[in-house]
Amino acid sequence: MVDDHSPAVSRELIGRAAAAISRARHVCVLTGAGISAESGIPTFRDAQEGIWARFDPLDLATPEGFERDPDLVWQWYEWRRDLVRKAEPNAGHHALATLARRVPRLTLVTQNVDGLHQRAGSTGVIEYHGNILRDRCTVEQVVAERSRDAGGGLPRCLGCGGLLRPDVVWFGEMIPRGALLLADAAAENCDVFLSIGTSSLVYPAASLGEAALRHGATVIEINPDSTDLSPRAHVVLRGPSGLVLPAVLELLP
Ligand code: OAD
Repeated sequence: MVDDHSPAVSRELIGRAAAAISRARHVCVLTGAGISAESGIPTFRDAQEGIWARFDPLDLATPEGFERDPDLVWQWYEWRRDLVRKAEPNAGHHALATLARRVPRLTLVTQNVDGLHQRAGSTGVIEYHGNILRDRCTVEQVVAERSRDAGGGLPRCLGCGGLLRPDVVWFGEMIPRGALLLADAAAENCDVFLSIGTSSLVYPAASLGEAALRHGATVIEINPDSTDLSPRAHVVLRGPSGLVLPAVLELLP
């Protein structure tokens, strides 16, 4: 195990990560809120700012909270959508889009709902927790367009008039089946697993790193802080992904 507690990540550690990646046939990447922090989107631990600080996440991000007060939940999501729309992908997102072109195969799984990987040029992104910019009909359970004659009320489905909700996974809900299967398969079959900007606390996403370890992958973590995965990772790069990922790319042969 290699860990670096110095504030600047050493060139040697970055070199180790680059060497493992350059030998890999399949790289699986799991990203979390940390990769978008440098784009100005607060991570989950910091997400409730200002007026939202006094609300319980269980009222804002659960099916029960939505049933109780859809208006409140929509206000919170509209606030977050606004943040996401104004944000730009950062050097970390761009480095991952470039990395996909430098290795034989790369699977990118994200817990983020902000779409910034796609805006940076990544394709085939597995959206484990959905996408905040999409609406889903609560009646038909499919991604839906908004009816234009909703007036000032809650957003309604263009097709059936049913109440819309954000197309994200809330606490207590299942991960979309396709995303779950594809991510599991990638974690079990990759040679290198990169865990970037995630606290590795929320399951089942956190189980992907464990699956990769069990199947013999080299596990590399990029995060300024320690996580539950850190003690088991083979290489730990303690720094912000917007700086560390471009540095890793630079050292690829
Ligand atoms: P967290 O907010 O739990 O963790 C963010 C991680 O990013 C922390 O470990 C930080 O140390 C790290 N971090 C902060 N700045 C960083 C930077 N510049 N570069 C790299 N890392 C940085 O976010 P997630 O682990 O993504 O689920 O949270 C997982 C899930 O918990 C979310 O997807 C969400 C939440 O409940 C759902 O909405 C279903």
